[in-house]
Amino acid sequence: MTLGDIPLAANETITVTPLKNKPLGCTVTLPQYCGNDPSKLNEIDHIKLYEAVLTYLVVVIPGMNKFSPQSQYNLTRSFDQSLPQKDTSKISYGHDHKILANEKSILKRDLITIKEQPEVHVLGNGEWNNPIYGNETINLKHPTHFTFHKNTLPKEKCFNVPEGEIPWTRFYRWHIDSALYKLYPPLITTLLGLKVPSKNKKQLVKYGDEESNELLVQQAATCFVSGAKAFDLLSEKDKEIVLNSKVMYAPHPYIYISNCKATNEGLTMVSEKKELALNELPPWEEQHIMKLPLVWTNPVTKKHHLQVHGCCVYKLFLSDGTILELEEARKTIYQWMKPAIAPKNVYAHEWSNGELCIFYNRGVWHSVSGQFDEGETRLCHQCNIASNDVPKTVE
Ligand SMILES: [Fe+2]
Repeated sequence: MTLGDIPLAANETITVTPLKNKPLGCTVTLPQYCGNDPSKLNEIDHIKLYEAVLTYLVVVIPGMNKFSPQSQYNLTRSFDQSLPQKDTSKISYGHDHKILANEKSILKRDLITIKEQPEVHVLGNGEWNNPIYGNETINLKHPTHFTFHKNTLPKEKCFNVPEGEIPWTRFYRWHIDSALYKLYPPLITTLLGLKVPSKNKKQLVKYGDEESNELLVQQAATCFVSGAKAFDLLSEKDKEIVLNSKVMYAPHPYIYISNCKATNEGLTMVSEKKELALNELPPWEEQHIMKLPLVWTNPVTKKHHLQVHGCCVYKLFLSDGTILELEEARKTIYQWMKPAIAPKNVYAHEWSNGELCIFYNRGVWHSVSGQFDEGETRLCHQCNIASNDVPKTVE
């Protein structure tokens, strides 16, 4: 027997437990030696954690209330070998801050950061005071479909509903975390739920689709679907097409669509010719426009993932040389994406205070859900880092 054959006790190495009866996800317990800080794992455990994230797509670690923004940043960047290891000044958040701050950007609310670790953003709802956010009270606003969707639910069904009734809600926007201009999509996003609604507080996601699908979730659950499942659900013909086609995103896509509204399921935008003209956007260069494969192959499982941001799509370049312009590109992508968000394929993460979710941003799509009544609060820290690695299809 060699040293490598001696099994480690559960508290000496990480343990990975797949979630039961869920389409994806696992929980991880940390070994004692890392002091509840997964950025301090030894090399073997770090590889195990990386492989768990890419295999199960969402890893949940409970009991992380004290996880510091510095450790969250270190953990998030530790998974991406393409990032400079020494000159960390060249590492940037998944979005360009100047573009995020643009008055028209639909992401403008995501601007509050930890002062000493600006790659970690503060999300949630309500007023919060903490010197790590600066000297002033911050006021967070949970995004709701009311500001982003073309058709909105009746407000009386969503806010301050009578006792015994379950408020309705929608998926806000299915997406991959990415600037989709100049910066390549982050490999990993980490999301730390510091103060979350009780698990008893339920809301009902109304898809507003032809099937009248519904999904009962915890208030403000974060919803995930697997891009590999989305690929598997395609017909053989469509698999062949997506494997050999590319999607182009508009320059500064979140500003480009700022006057547009989303479809009911939050998968894409309604085409009403409300997009900004390219010359109305902040300065952009042709060389930084993102033209990416539709399928990104998972380096651990070797599975193909359909990874596309349906709201930001601009054009599709199909394998036979056809170019689909905006409206047709949206319709086609919607058809490819829709089966994947059927209720049985969605993992709606129901948060407990202090949970850390680590997700493979190049293998899942995710969406915010829910809304808050006056006085209800939520607080999360989120981090992702733009990669230097171009997403690829590997045959
Ligand atoms: Fe996100």
